[in-house]
Amino acid sequence: MPKMPISLGRPVVGHLPAVMKRGLFPLIQAHWSAHGDTFGLRVGPKLINVFIHPEAIERMLVTQRSDFIKGEGYDQIRLLVGDGVLTAEGERWKQQRRTIQPCMNRAFLLGFGDAMVQAAVDATERWAARDLEVLDIYPEMLHLALRILGQTLFSVDLSVSADVSTRAFTVALEELSTRGNTIFAAPLSWPTPANLRLRRALRQLDEIVFEMIDKRLAQKAGGDPGPQDLISLLLDHRDEQGAPLDRQLVRDEIITMFLAGHETTGLALTWTWYLLSLHPRVEADLHEELDRVLGGRVPTVEDLPRLELTKRILQESMRVMPPVWSGGRTVARDTELCGYPLREGDTAMIVPYFTHRHPAFWDRPEAFSPERFEPAAARGRHKYAYLPFSAGPRMCVGNHFTMIEAQLALAVIAQRFRFDLHPGHVVARDHQITMRPAHGMKMLVRRREARSGLAPRPRPAAGC
Ligand code: HEM
Repeated sequence: MPKMPISLGRPVVGHLPAVMKRGLFPLIQAHWSAHGDTFGLRVGPKLINVFIHPEAIERMLVTQRSDFIKGEGYDQIRLLVGDGVLTAEGERWKQQRRTIQPCMNRAFLLGFGDAMVQAAVDATERWAARDLEVLDIYPEMLHLALRILGQTLFSVDLSVSADVSTRAFTVALEELSTRGNTIFAAPLSWPTPANLRLRRALRQLDEIVFEMIDKRLAQKAGGDPGPQDLISLLLDHRDEQGAPLDRQLVRDEIITMFLAGHETTGLALTWTWYLLSLHPRVEADLHEELDRVLGGRVPTVEDLPRLELTKRILQESMRVMPPVWSGGRTVARDTELCGYPLREGDTAMIVPYFTHRHPAFWDRPEAFSPERFEPAAARGRHKYAYLPFSAGPRMCVGNHFTMIEAQLALAVIAQRFRFDLHPGHVVARDHQITMRPAHGMKMLVRRREARSGLAPRPRPAAGC
């Protein structure tokens, strides 16, 4: 077997001090340059085996997936999402994924198109009414994604609580990320300042979600089945013995969907506006497509197949700036991957940010070129060289949701506005679990010439 190049770092603590200070990203970047596609990093007591090559990714996530579990690497995130589908394992995970899948099929999701468009139209009207010159587009995109999730999957209007919810998610994720990068995280019951912040965020999210559940339960108890959305799907679910899902598990699934679905999509859109502001030619082509296909009216899901460049811009944006920049698994048993030995309990990590820049698969990897996703250009590319939504059976269940939502939102907003990066704004990446703009994304707001078209009224969503 070939020997994995292992970087031991300092005696005893390995690379832990560097990880605590700056996170894993710069370490991986330096080691990829020095050692190539496979290497090990000693971080405290843990060995993190990093795999960048698509071949290894295919094995880890698909052909050899039974050698890997989500395991202890997800312990921190479990404090937030409990046993929802993101963190569950084995048979239980299969059952949970089957339960939510009907709400995630593309054909069903197309019924949400009008609500998605309406939320984007509302956002543009708010900006227009305020006659803004400068906007931090990052919280705006988080709010938009949260509102869309609320309206489509849960039939609730979260515009009032959007600030509280997005802030609570942001705080929770930051604290969980920090806990994940330390050798000893204080038990949650200890009243440290960080724990108090985390507990407050968890309490706020619980309040919002349990209120949604209780309202729907009361509605159902009153004889009204309520909208056929994801909450109904979860509350109406019965197992083989006829038992409903535990209320806590319903809470876990709902928080999971909010967590997995709102920041990621908000980030994808935020980075897309940033990239468009750096690439005026691509932006001009986008405007040409929108004007040609839509002629000033708001888009509908029927327009999606003709908004080809709009889609490619999003695909390329998620290549260059993947919202989930890395992913990890725990090695379930002693095994090997691509010939390298792995020990039970070690961590195996993939890093789409670098796989998306692998020179063997991407020509001029740093260039932003939506043409890469034209069918002829994409033909023959390794299937696992591009994985913003991960891959294999545990691939993102919300990938179709995201693409429909992001394509429609980008179209609606770019019809009415363009954004230039604010000259004084410093763009830096913060590599937490997701890849965030460290200081937000302050942009100058430019109105495009008035486009007519009435916003469509949302159609009631069809049942799952
Ligand atoms: C740009 C948007 C999105 C990106 C980049 C993204 C990315 C990902 C990635 C990389 C994973 C795999 C995580 C892992 O292996 O631990 C994942 C899983 C998941 N995503 Fe997404 N996601 C996005 C949007 C959404 C949306 C909108 C939803 C829900 C409506 C969603 C729900 C989920 C769920 C439930 C899982 C867990 C699936 C499972 O383990 O079976 N995601 N996502």
